Amino acid sequence: MTTTFSIPTTIYMGSGALDRLQELPIKRALLVCDPFLTKNGASKLVSSRLEAMGAQWELFDRIVPDPTVGLVSAGAACILDYRPDALIALGGGSAIDAGKAINFIYTQMGASEKPLFVAIPTTSGTGSEVTSFSVLSDPKAGAKYPLTDDRMLPEAALLDPSLTLSVPPHVTADTGMDILTHALEAYASPFASDFTDALAEKAIALVFANLPGAVKNGGDFEARERLHNASCMAGIAFNNASLGICHGMAHPLGALLHLPHGRSNALLLPHVAAFNAGLNEQGDFPARARYAALARQSGCCCCYTETVAVQGLIRRIQDLMTETGMPHKLEDEKHRALLAEHLESLAEGALADRCTGGNPRSAQIGQVQELYRKLL
Ligand SMILES: NC(=O)c1ccc[n+]([C@@H]2O[C@H](COP(=O)([O-])OP(=O)(O)OC[C@H]3O[C@@H](n4cnc5c(N)ncnc54)[C@H](O)[C@@H]3O)[C@@H](O)[C@H]2O)c1
Ligand SMILES: [Zn+2]
Repeated sequence: MTTTFSIPTTIYMGSGALDRLQELPIKRALLVCDPFLTKNGASKLVSSRLEAMGAQWELFDRIVPDPTVGLVSAGAACILDYRPDALIALGGGSAIDAGKAINFIYTQMGASEKPLFVAIPTTSGTGSEVTSFSVLSDPKAGAKYPLTDDRMLPEAALLDPSLTLSVPPHVTADTGMDILTHALEAYASPFASDFTDALAEKAIALVFANLPGAVKNGGDFEARERLHNASCMAGIAFNNASLGICHGMAHPLGALLHLPHGRSNALLLPHVAAFNAGLNEQGDFPARARYAALARQSGCCCCYTETVAVQGLIRRIQDLMTETGMPHKLEDEKHRALLAEHLESLAEGALADRCTGGNPRSAQIGQVQELYRKLL
């Protein structure tokens, strides 16, 4: 099988990366972010640089977590009115994903040239700054849809770790587990290559080494910087390999319970890894050897059998969750009741999700329900 690998986005990284904005050919920009980033002054850091380079700008700061189609429509109306030559998305995955969809609509609706898309992540998690995905929610249907199109890939990503210093501990933990899930799913993907493995392995090592420190001490600049790089590396890995059923299941779960995206992934990840590896089952499960190799390489386990090595990796993930204050199951009684009530539709949603197609093991609806039941 041949596979391809590409990184069309130019990545500027490290302390002061935000200053590199001034090297980009921008004369008129729409800045998209959430209201918190206007309040804490982060959007000013961008707009002041735009002013210094003589560019005009307009602000659309109405982004909310898990952006909806309605929000994207409002953003599209704003961009069609302002007609910029660049869209700068500042924020977590929600702002970057919404920005991608807004820019895509503008590109298709009369922009004279494709507007430059610049992503400035302020969380270390989704890797959206280097992916062709935009995850949008339809609250009425209780569903999240991962849209994908290479034309949504950002032209530039500015990874400035100083922007992530203000991320609170629980968001740091949730988003950090999202990095780990991206890297693990890319690593176990049937479309993985030596190129994506290199990025996934490094991202996993960086998360294990730096996430607990960043959660305990948000001001730890070095830990923040390494996580920011890990997030982007895992994004490149999964954009070129694929995600898998953990994301396929996390999307309907997050839409139903309004859980943070990284939290939904983290809750499911150990169970999905056990399922993919076919632990306690007879048969040929390609993910088993892959996880075992990763476990041995990352020092989770140096042991003899693949099964024991995979168990070591799963334990390492669970320990990281404990260390970063993540729950291992759904704790809220209402959430538990909702999950139990909607098991069938959740499993149907997971099987229909486009990420599930990249999973190394196919699943039947009963097996997906069984995986969801592990959260109770
Ligand atoms: N496009 C992709 O490739 C991709 C991949 C994975 C997930 N996603 C999607 O991305 C979204 C999740 O993104 P996220 O996890 O980054 O969360 P988010 O963007 O929803 O942000 C979470 C919270 O953190 C706050 N925040 C952001 N930056 C901050 C900062 N520097 N300091 C303090 N608070 C800050 C936000 O205001 C928000 O309240 C979901 O919709 C998910 O489905 C997209
Ligand atoms: Zn994710």
